[in-house]
Order: sequence, then structure tokens, then C-alpha cells
Amino acid sequence: MHDVPEIEQQHQKLIGMMNELNEAVKNKESRTDIYRIIDDVIAYTRLHFDIEEQLMAEAGYPEIEAHKDKHRQLIQEALHLKEKLDYVGGEMFTDWFTHWPFARVLAHIQYADNQIKDYIRQAGVKV
Ligand SMILES: [Fe+2]
Ligand SMILES: [Fe+2]
Repeated sequence: MHDVPEIEQQHQKLIGMMNELNEAVKNKESRTDIYRIIDDVIAYTRLHFDIEEQLMAEAGYPEIEAHKDKHRQLIQEALHLKEKLDYVGGEMFTDWFTHWPFARVLAHIQYADNQIKDYIRQAGVKV
């Protein structure tokens, strides 16, 4: 497994932001603050997905469409979660968070993204 430094750095930043979000929920910070962090995570995730998709395109990665679909789905789920959170109370709020879609973003980083990193590296795309 070769690492693609730019993608790797962004993944680390994303993981950091998601940890911050988890902490905020655990510490029962205000919803305004939590929503602000969710918005930040979504914005950064979008940016990261765009860059990753660009690298995949440059590398001619054959599974690009399937991977882009996964990205779209993760963003939709994250946006949807925010809508749902508007309707749940205190305890449920924390509970719902254990099933949050951001955990699926982490899983995506660990599995799907690992498949593309080697390909991008081998294709010699400058990152
Ligand atoms: Fe990624
Ligand atoms: Fe990805």
C-alpha cells in the first residue's frame, strides 16, 4: 500500500473534525454549536470528495462512477441526519448519534479509499 499524501492529510483532518463532533455531542454542547461543527464537517467532506474525484479522473480509475456514487450517498445521509436531529430530544439526540452517517464516512476512508490510493499512485498522478 502506497500512500497519497494529500488524500492522507485530508483524511487525518476529517477524522480530527469528526472526533471534535463526537466530543461536542458527548459533552452535550448546544445544538447551535453541534450543528456548526456538522456543517464544517460536511463542507470539508465535500471539498475532500471533489479533490479525490479529480485525482481519480486524472488517474483513469475504472471504478470512478461507483466511488462517486458512494460519495454522493454519504453527503445525502449526513444532510438528512441534520434534518432528523431537529426532531429528537436530548437523550435520543445522543443515541441517534451513535448511528450517525459520519461513522460510514470513516468506514469509507478505511476501505473504499484504500482501493483508490494505490491506483492513483501507480498512475503517476501528481498530487
Ligand atoms: Fe477520502
Ligand atoms: Fe472516497
